Amino acid sequence: MGIRISPSILSADFANLERDVTRIAGADWVHVDVMDNHFVPNLTLGLPVLEAISRVTDVPVDAHLMIEDPDRWAPAYAEAGAQSVTFHVEAAAAPVRLARELRAQDARASMALKPATPIEPYEDLLPELDMVLLMTVEPGFGGQAFLDIMLPKIRRTRALLDKHGGDIWLQVDGGVSADTIERCAEAGADTFVAGSAVFGADDPGAMVDQLRDRAAEATHRHA
Ligand code: DX5
Ligand code: ZN
Repeated sequence: MGIRISPSILSADFANLERDVTRIAGADWVHVDVMDNHFVPNLTLGLPVLEAISRVTDVPVDAHLMIEDPDRWAPAYAEAGAQSVTFHVEAAAAPVRLARELRAQDARASMALKPATPIEPYEDLLPELDMVLLMTVEPGFGGQAFLDIMLPKIRRTRALLDKHGGDIWLQVDGGVSADTIERCAEAGADTFVAGSAVFGADDPGAMVDQLRDRAAEATHRHA
């Protein structure tokens, strides 16, 4: 199973995004958090900034849309350069149609769940998806503490993905750090978003490597 680290630029210096994205050139993805002040109580950035980021890096962009009406907006993020687009199922009116639209644009289609949203009602949608994102904090802000109570949902989601086969990635987002990443990996996550842990480190690039090593070790230990 591959391990992927996706640093969240929410914790980068917004006045120096190009410099900070260069610092994580060894990452597998760069995670871009889009917030609209409606779906979550915070406002970050939108299409023009994502487009600018994708122009200055070879690292593929992983867009996490914490917005209302993703049915209307998500395809534009694929067009702007995101190679993976994650919409929240709580906000999507027609998640199947939306996932198909994203794939038709050659983007990876990904569905996110807030902490209180169960995975089970969406089991039949899995073949339409390339990734499931499980929030391990309430979405809206970086730097929050990892919610250990989400570990059982990570395990249940891993079991569902294994049952269905295919290669659907399982991403965790929120409070992932050198202290918590092993728990996530053991529970079955394979794709890890880390914002404050990476950009709060003295050497963000070295932290990406450290997170990847820890996750890989925990995955092997558990296998
Ligand atoms: C939170 C965002 C996360 C956030 C993670 O709503 O979706 O991607 O940047 O930040 P940390 O890793 O600091 O919890
Ligand atoms: Zn995110």
